[in-house]
Amino acid sequence: MITAGPLAVSPADVLREADRRRTFAVISHPDAGKSTLTEALALHAQVISEAGAVHGKSGRRGVVSDWMEMEKARGISITSAALQFAYGDAVVNLLDTPGHADFSEDTYRVLAAVDSAVMLLDAARGLEPQTLKLFDVCRHRGIPVITFVNKWDRPGRDALALCDELVERIGLQPMPLTWPVGDAGHFRGVLDRRDGHFVRYRRTAGGATAAGEERFGPQVAEAEEGTEWTRAVEEADLLAASGGDFDLERFLDASATPVLFGSAVLNFGVRHLLDLLVELAPRPTPRLDVQARPRALDAQFSAFVFKVQTGMDPSHRDQVAFARVCSGVFERGMVVTNATTGKPFATKYVQQVFGQQRSTLDTAYPGDVIGLVNATALRVGDTLHVEKPAVRFPGLPSFAPAHFAVARPADLSRSKQFRKGIEQLESEGVVQVLRSPRRGDGAPVFAAVGPMQFEVAAHRLDAEFKSPVRLERLPYTVVRRLDDLAHRAVVDSRGNEVLTRADGVHLALFTDSTALAVMRRLHPEVSLEPLVAGTD
Ligand code: G4P
Repeated sequence: MITAGPLAVSPADVLREADRRRTFAVISHPDAGKSTLTEALALHAQVISEAGAVHGKSGRRGVVSDWMEMEKARGISITSAALQFAYGDAVVNLLDTPGHADFSEDTYRVLAAVDSAVMLLDAARGLEPQTLKLFDVCRHRGIPVITFVNKWDRPGRDALALCDELVERIGLQPMPLTWPVGDAGHFRGVLDRRDGHFVRYRRTAGGATAAGEERFGPQVAEAEEGTEWTRAVEEADLLAASGGDFDLERFLDASATPVLFGSAVLNFGVRHLLDLLVELAPRPTPRLDVQARPRALDAQFSAFVFKVQTGMDPSHRDQVAFARVCSGVFERGMVVTNATTGKPFATKYVQQVFGQQRSTLDTAYPGDVIGLVNATALRVGDTLHVEKPAVRFPGLPSFAPAHFAVARPADLSRSKQFRKGIEQLESEGVVQVLRSPRRGDGAPVFAAVGPMQFEVAAHRLDAEFKSPVRLERLPYTVVRRLDDLAHRAVVDSRGNEVLTRADGVHLALFTDSTALAVMRRLHPEVSLEPLVAGTD
């Protein structure tokens, strides 16, 4: 038996529950339709009765995730949590990711907690900068990706050209499972490549509920759609000839991606996507611990924290640590140990949080996400486990920052609060905090993937810690990792500076590639390793 307080669950139960889980994130370049698709998926599973209840942009359908004033002001969603719903016999965990590219560090962390991802492309824009970066991260981490070409109801690119782009620009083999009938802008429906049938979509009022769908055999399709249908069939034949037929192994090893065409706003193709996730997306698998030993799914409870969020509820200013369950069963109220500190804590308040919706959570299985309320000692990357033997999962990767700023308290009488605030922001991963003996504790350097992270950090130091901050941008643009030995050889000089991250990694920052080249000439013996987004 696996013990979890009063609940006794057999290992077979845990394995069965894990097998029902599909844990994934929707990722995209901003504006491709991520929020719209998330809502459409949730609507399909009928967890929410009205579009807009999850979160949306400022003014859109009148509902905004408003826990943070900045979000409201900017109309962006910074929060990220998980939505769980049952779909048929499956339990779907949809992890939210922030829409703005400046918060891609959060997105990368969420990717450490999923088993697959849905990549959304805008039919008219194709592969955009953020899409390319995210595809790259998924490939490095071996995350299988399903591609959903969105906005087919509007004029856009040619479907074959979009597929070519996937091969040419990211070396990912597209394996379309549906093929559009009708150009972008004249979306009639799709050819289901697995059975050769035509699925015709019908608009419903406002697209707020599931789209109308009719299925026809090829003869009826040809009679009704004429050349649009025959063109779709010819193009689908071309795909088959160019290696575009579905291959489960290639999807699971992240070297090829199933592709679907649809329109999130009209709910076209959304059911197909959900069915596909349930059918094909990987189930939770044993996670490797720090010694690369797999932690069996039916071992005692373990989880790791991938996100810490403060102030989600403005009236309470509470802190929620989100953890992905890796093994065993979690039951609210059980005592778990933080592997980093060795300290136990009770889990009385556990929630599921998504946008504005919260509900108390009682049990969770591998693949699920638990929100631990006011577990203030938890940091991103911490492992949680129950009983001995202890387990520890590798920490989450940190990311190549591209923007740097020195932070100083604007009001020196608030220095203590300033230091406390910085510790808090660091533990949540709002910004990376770099330090050096030369700059001291009173003037650490903030490092960020996107500059908007600085605004969030400054806003929070001011609003939560009443310690306004002065940020002075530093001119560095290139960052390299130094090993311990090199750290002693390389010292600050013109055009560069050496700082240390909280995890002890030394970073050399350079104003530009010339400054880096100078350093290389002066110290040919020193290895200056680049940091790669999502893999470091
Ligand atoms: P994001 O989270 O990826 O940033 O994108 P979001 O869902 O907010 O969608 C961005 C815009 O694209 C929205 O328009 C949304 O309505 C629109 N959109 C999403 N999916 C589709 C689709 O399938 N077809 C079409 N034609 N449009 C789509 P907006 O003008 O910013 O907001 P709204 O006032 O239309 O809601």
